[in-house]
Amino acid sequence: MRFMAGSEVADWRRSRLAFVLSAIFFCAAVSAQSQTGLPEGNGKALIEATCAQCHDLERVSNARFTREDWQITVTRMVAHGAVLKDNEIAVVTDYLARNFLGQPAVVIPGAEDAIEKALFAAPANLRPAATVIRWKPDQTYETLKKGTNRLVCYDRSGFPLEPPFSVECTSIGNLERVAQNLKFEAAGGGDEKKTQALFDALEKEGTRVKPEHGSIWHQFRGADQARARMHLTVAVPGGTAQSTGLPVTRDPMNAWIMDAGTSSAHIMLPGR
Ligand code: HEC
Repeated sequence: MRFMAGSEVADWRRSRLAFVLSAIFFCAAVSAQSQTGLPEGNGKALIEATCAQCHDLERVSNARFTREDWQITVTRMVAHGAVLKDNEIAVVTDYLARNFLGQPAVVIPGAEDAIEKALFAAPANLRPAATVIRWKPDQTYETLKKGTNRLVCYDRSGFPLEPPFSVECTSIGNLERVAQNLKFEAAGGGDEKKTQALFDALEKEGTRVKPEHGSIWHQFRGADQARARMHLTVAVPGGTAQSTGLPVTRDPMNAWIMDAGTSSAHIMLPGR
């Protein structure tokens, strides 16, 4: 160390003290961080360092997934921006699958084909953990596959006003809305105007069930599977041009809002 004048020595001592203090605080912060309640094991520290950057670690420790679904979830988190090297992904996935293992989705035997068909409408990353139901004529349903995420898919092929091939997925929170859709579409008997009038009446009475704000409707529809097209909309019940800042007329190049001001208001996305 070079020679220092007295005042310089004092400065150096102060900065050294500051360094020591900050090191103590840093360690305290680290040890507080490691009191996250995650079970001990290889991968714990990585998860504490990486996974709390965007959400609570409770989001992680409350989840119960199969090994396959953890793999998909961790891959999705990396796509969101979680920074993990390939070997760390394996360590983290293994830790999660060991500590937070969930039951695999339960499938009703014999329903495999119906499940596969309904899941055509699901985005690939949500497919394994999605639920699949089968609607009955009285708008109740049976569960063909009990999933572990919030996506639910079902077949509507040939229902009134639906094309011969029609499958749909949405949030599990929208099932009451779907049941109402199916009930009044059935009552409309395939007549578009009559059906619309029934929905307008519900809207007016204030009894139209609202979808979850921001929930997505995924539809895959067409004359048959080969000619079916994907369509994706975002529900913004009650949304208007003012509340969303979007135009109310069709715009093939930009997002716009359809059925503005009603419970059916939804954002149409270009190319979707
Ligand atoms: C860059 C931000 C970011 C980081 C880092 C991140 N996540 Fe997430 N996480 C999200 C977002 C956004 C969602 C909600 C959307 C979704 O599920 O894809 C989410 C949701 C989740 C969910 C709920 C998924 C479900 O299907 O219910 C789990 C579990 C999860 N994260 C685990 C993790 C784990 C484990 C890590 C660390 C490896 C991690 N997250 C790191 C952004 C992040």
